[in-house]
Amino acid sequence: MDAMECMLGRQSTPAGLLVEPTPSDEDMLQLLEVAMRAPDHGALRPWRFLVIRDERRHALGDIFADSLAKREPDATAEDIEKARGKAVRAPLVLAVWAEIVEGHAKVPAVEQVVATGAATQNLLNALHAQGYQAILVTGAPCYDENVKGPLGLAPKDVLVGFIHIGTAKSATPVKKRPDPAEYLQIW
Ligand SMILES: Cc1cc2nc3c(=O)[nH]c(=O)nc-3n(C[C@H](O)[C@H](O)[C@H](O)COP(=O)(O)O)c2cc1C
Repeated sequence: MDAMECMLGRQSTPAGLLVEPTPSDEDMLQLLEVAMRAPDHGALRPWRFLVIRDERRHALGDIFADSLAKREPDATAEDIEKARGKAVRAPLVLAVWAEIVEGHAKVPAVEQVVATGAATQNLLNALHAQGYQAILVTGAPCYDENVKGPLGLAPKDVLVGFIHIGTAKSATPVKKRPDPAEYLQIW
């Protein structure tokens, strides 16, 4: 597919519509070749990706549930089950984070997060090019040390989000996109 046509065709699919097939772990390495082409000040390679599939998604769901119970002691049992269920909507979840080098002379933390965001977008485009669907989500778990810790992040690291990946069981209506002219000024 033409690269422009491909990128213009990418859009997110709600996690609940995603089913198998998913890329294998080997496929993920190929897809991540595209992520590795992201702009990266100082070549710090701040991006980290964690594959969570099959039974491990339930472990992630437990982390979401436990963290909500700690974050919001008044959360109902229903709220907690809802949080747990967020990990198992799609067959494959990829946690993406920036492993931050603190106090870098030239590359502040925000640039390391931007590089990881760029890698994430490259990956979303690569997934689309390979015929998969996906969505990047965050929510309160991304800002919760009780989620970051068990996934292997230090408090300084930034959990950019969870990419839910699979094949759409039904098509999502094509979205109307903003007019770029409204976002461009010529100085
Ligand atoms: C950093 C970031 C976090 C996001 N978190 C959520 C989220 O928690 N829940 C959600 O429904 N969409 C979230 N989104 C938006 C979706 O990823 C997606 O962009 C949106 O549904 C629009 O779809 P599109 O990609 O087809 O434009 C987030 C996007 C970004 C960039």
